[in-house]
Amino acid sequence: MGITFYEKEKLFKLDTPGASYVCGIFDKEGFLGHAYFGPGLEEPDVGYLCRTQEPPYVPAVNNRDRLAFYDSFPFEYPTHGLGDYRDDCLAVRTAAGNTALKLTYASHEIIAGKKPLKGLPATFGDADQCTTLEVLLKDEILGLEVILSYSVFEDVDAVLRSARIVNRGNEEIYLTKVMSACLDMDNESYDIITLHGSWARERHVNRRPLSKGTQRVSSIRGESGHQEHPFMAIMDHNADQTMGNVWGINLVYSGNFVAGCYVNQFDSLRAYIGINPEDFCWKLMPGEEFTAPEAVIVYSDTGLGGMTRNFHDLYRNHLIRSAYKDKKRPVLINNWEATYFDFDTDKLLAIADEAAKVGIEMLVMDDGWFGYRNSDNSSLGDWKVNESKLKGGLKYLVDEVNRRGLKFGIWFEPEMISPDSDLYRAHPDWAIRIAGREPGQAREQYVLDLSRPEVVEHTYGQISEVLHSANIEYVKWDMNRPLADMGSACLPADRMGELFHRYVLAVYELQERLVSDFPNLLLENCSGGGARFDPGMLYYSPQIWCSDDTDAIERLSIQEGTAMVYPLSAMGAHVSDCPNHAVGRVTPFRTRGYVALAGTFGYELDVTRIPEEDRSMIPSQIDMYHKYNDLVRMGDYYRMASYSENHEFDCYMVVAKDKSEALVTFIQVLGRVNCHSRRIRLQGLDPGLRYRLEYVDGAADESKGEGTDRTYLGETLMKAGLLIRNPRGDFQGRLIHVVEA
Ligand code: GLA
Repeated sequence: MGITFYEKEKLFKLDTPGASYVCGIFDKEGFLGHAYFGPGLEEPDVGYLCRTQEPPYVPAVNNRDRLAFYDSFPFEYPTHGLGDYRDDCLAVRTAAGNTALKLTYASHEIIAGKKPLKGLPATFGDADQCTTLEVLLKDEILGLEVILSYSVFEDVDAVLRSARIVNRGNEEIYLTKVMSACLDMDNESYDIITLHGSWARERHVNRRPLSKGTQRVSSIRGESGHQEHPFMAIMDHNADQTMGNVWGINLVYSGNFVAGCYVNQFDSLRAYIGINPEDFCWKLMPGEEFTAPEAVIVYSDTGLGGMTRNFHDLYRNHLIRSAYKDKKRPVLINNWEATYFDFDTDKLLAIADEAAKVGIEMLVMDDGWFGYRNSDNSSLGDWKVNESKLKGGLKYLVDEVNRRGLKFGIWFEPEMISPDSDLYRAHPDWAIRIAGREPGQAREQYVLDLSRPEVVEHTYGQISEVLHSANIEYVKWDMNRPLADMGSACLPADRMGELFHRYVLAVYELQERLVSDFPNLLLENCSGGGARFDPGMLYYSPQIWCSDDTDAIERLSIQEGTAMVYPLSAMGAHVSDCPNHAVGRVTPFRTRGYVALAGTFGYELDVTRIPEEDRSMIPSQIDMYHKYNDLVRMGDYYRMASYSENHEFDCYMVVAKDKSEALVTFIQVLGRVNCHSRRIRLQGLDPGLRYRLEYVDGAADESKGEGTDRTYLGETLMKAGLLIRNPRGDFQGRLIHVVEA
């Protein structure tokens, strides 16, 4: 494993436990080309895959067709304007107005470990865990240097890439497009998966064949967004959860992105990911550098399931940092769906009283505790406790909640400013807006211009003052509108194109300060539900609120798409009241618990008012959480059936790393009459181990014959499968604990 440079062949081979990535230096001019990323190879010499031995060859052999070379060579980091007409990675505008550049190899370095990316979230590992290759490319005419960085870890089949651009010339250069990575390969009839949605229905899986031309997903909303996601998977047409080649690509970034695939005239595929070049223009003065966010490319030859487990391991081991990273999270109750804005100290303490009785461990006070906010139309930016609502102040409330044995958490939306706020009245120019144009509101709010250091300072000062004022152990950091009207009162005209990225950098700076100053704080990111559920945010918060739709059935598809990339430990999931506030559906309380168990687990309801039958189930649900959460948080995730695909039922399981136990979740959506039981083939078990099946909640009574007294070889459960009888009624679930006998 690790990274080797083969001098004679001029090839770099990057090896992970099960995969190899090969790139190298071609032609006298030193073009950096991509040869291979797939199952592990012994010998490095697959440079022939770059097809430089066939027309149009390389410029040294056939300079009259240089453009044809540019337009077909598989570049590691293709540039704009010289004849590579595919979607490229880097474009500039010089002081003279030119846009083209050519990058060729200058030198390289192989380093143990991995350097942090300045101001940006990124995966990390020490010298024993990973190796990094840095290749220096240069454009001699512009004096521009590009340092491409590639890291591989010892424990996961992934290549982590980023690019640093340095202006070594004498004039400013405007960067108009900087991708983080690209992957040039043959299109062998691949399919592509991307994730799509909207508010309350985030990250639904969309799979289709890859076709000619460009297919891309993107955001220009200033955040990764509800609608599209900085992720794509390219895979064999017949790949499924268990077999086939899959390349999964994700961006460790929380702002505007583009992820695209371009299939050209020769059926070559170029996949790329990076900051969206739309509305992006970064002025680079002589001596300055720009760092692109990190791109993650994982490879699996065991289908989508393998891709998912690679992402989960990578993010759990090398991206998430919190003190809670490897810990059970306290079971929380959040008052949003319980009270919305209509609460006071007494109401919250009444919830805390009841919550304590049933075993809940933390109370989170959501939106509406500050300024004079009694609806969503005011006070964002005025982070001072509303004492007419919270009589006795925040410290009194927190102490009282603590006295009842519960931790306390609080909601903020730090990036926003309400037009009706003291902050806006004092500093109207602190909102992002175009001079002379009335900015558009969303949820009756504007966005703070975080490109201004004084705004960042003020925002942080307010948050930290609140956090220091009482024993607050959790923060939900929300962001409830996209960016628009991109203008800053402080940026000069030729830097206005930096505003989107500067905004994201400032969010990172704020969260970095927060987690450094309050290292034991549990931070949960959120954005109108799950509009900023991305690896960038995961670097700061070990969990992210997945969606404002808490309906157990809607959540099946949302959580399927989310868990395709992100570990279950990161997926904010709560049991809420019915009829569900988003969709109006009534599901059994028990099923709501099963579905929330696949995430962080908590409650989002008024525990003083829900039916006694439901309330009485909470203690056993919490026991269940404590019993299975280590397994769910740290285990390997396998998907056996998808409700979004079959429209009937969902089934997934989590297997302990040592294979000693597993938890199978089965949700039958609508009840079925006069039908056979379903046959489910389990996955990921040890074929040679014997297992016992424990039907949680005594569901085996309904499933006589599947009994709990016999044992099965793992092989039997995986090849022959097990039978799950039809549960009676709609929206019913089964939870099966598979334990080594
Ligand atoms: C967003 C969040 C909700 C809640 C509200 C409060 O929509 O996703 O969970 O916090 O804001 O306004």
